[in-house]
Amino acid sequence: MRVLVCGGAGYIGSHMVRKLISSGHTPVVFDNLSTGHSAALDEAFRGAAEKGISPVLVKGDVLNVGDVEKLFDEQPVDAVIHFSAHSKVSESLAKPALYYHGILVGSLNLLAAAIHSKVDTFIFSSTAAVYGTPETMPIEESCPTNPISPFGQAAKMVEMILEDYAQAQGLKSIALRYFNAAGADPEGRLGENHDPETHLIPNVLKAILGKTPPLDIFGNDYPTPDGTCIRDYVHVEDVADAHLLALNHLCAQTGSGYFQTFNVGSGKGFSVLEVMAAAERVTGQWVPYTFTHRRAGDPAVLVASAEKAKQTLGWNPKYPSLDDIIRTAWRWFNK
Ligand code: UFG
Repeated sequence: MRVLVCGGAGYIGSHMVRKLISSGHTPVVFDNLSTGHSAALDEAFRGAAEKGISPVLVKGDVLNVGDVEKLFDEQPVDAVIHFSAHSKVSESLAKPALYYHGILVGSLNLLAAAIHSKVDTFIFSSTAAVYGTPETMPIEESCPTNPISPFGQAAKMVEMILEDYAQAQGLKSIALRYFNAAGADPEGRLGENHDPETHLIPNVLKAILGKTPPLDIFGNDYPTPDGTCIRDYVHVEDVADAHLLALNHLCAQTGSGYFQTFNVGSGKGFSVLEVMAAAERVTGQWVPYTFTHRRAGDPAVLVASAEKAKQTLGWNPKYPSLDDIIRTAWRWFNK
């Protein structure tokens, strides 16, 4: 199958590209390389020729209708996986237009071109941020969605659009609500490389390596056992697997129109201090840190129920241990 991967040069996108190739699919990557890396694609594409697969990179912008129409005219595809470009809650509070415009217009452009080209299979990168500040843990997909940030709002709006397009246009789509994607390709070829880096695990490892000042811990007065925020860390390979299973699930839908949401999380929560302790176990080194004020938009606790993805998609995470997740990230950072 030829699969369009929008944002395929990014962190999760590049792992997805590699996963598609290893599963015998041909990725057509569409990326403007503003935050993604062509070097990551070189790694992700490695070994494709031996499998008789010719992956493609098309440089372009989802916000440019001309780029998107040309892409669909020139590159026939069977399905679309849309990794949204911006995914930071705190940044979205400071720059709402960047998020509403980027996520809504980008998704609408892709959907219009896909439907025009009779491509009816679509996977969207949604987020745990759609839940806002949930009252019950673990969070099931049926929990109310009350986002508290433009990132979460925009993702929720795209989910609503997909649901309407299922009814009206026969679109078959799945929104995967990511919790905290972390870790790196176990072979050390791909990993997290954001600039600036805002995510906890890479920042912990960079602080250990002395590449940054001591880690800032954003708040120690949350209503959690140790006062720091609790999150659900899920290995990026397992996130990529969830997409592959979602793709298979959509392809198995014979009727017209389908929409479902699935949480992509491990089902286990760890506080910031517990993540640091795990990093110290894995690396054998101490994490220098200071406590600072809370970061805007951070809920105290976000832990997924992954039951729906396990039961409906057959998802079975291969890296359930936080130490193993950090170990793969550590290997990547040491490269
Ligand atoms: N944190 C620090 N110091 C850092 C970086 C992070 O203390 O240098 C803390 C944060 O305050 C948070 C936790 O570590 O409590 C995790 O933060 P990340 O930035 O790694 O990730 P987020 O929890 O902000 O992001 C995740 C998903 C988003 C989702 C969001 C919902 O990646 O897609 O949760 O709040 F939108």
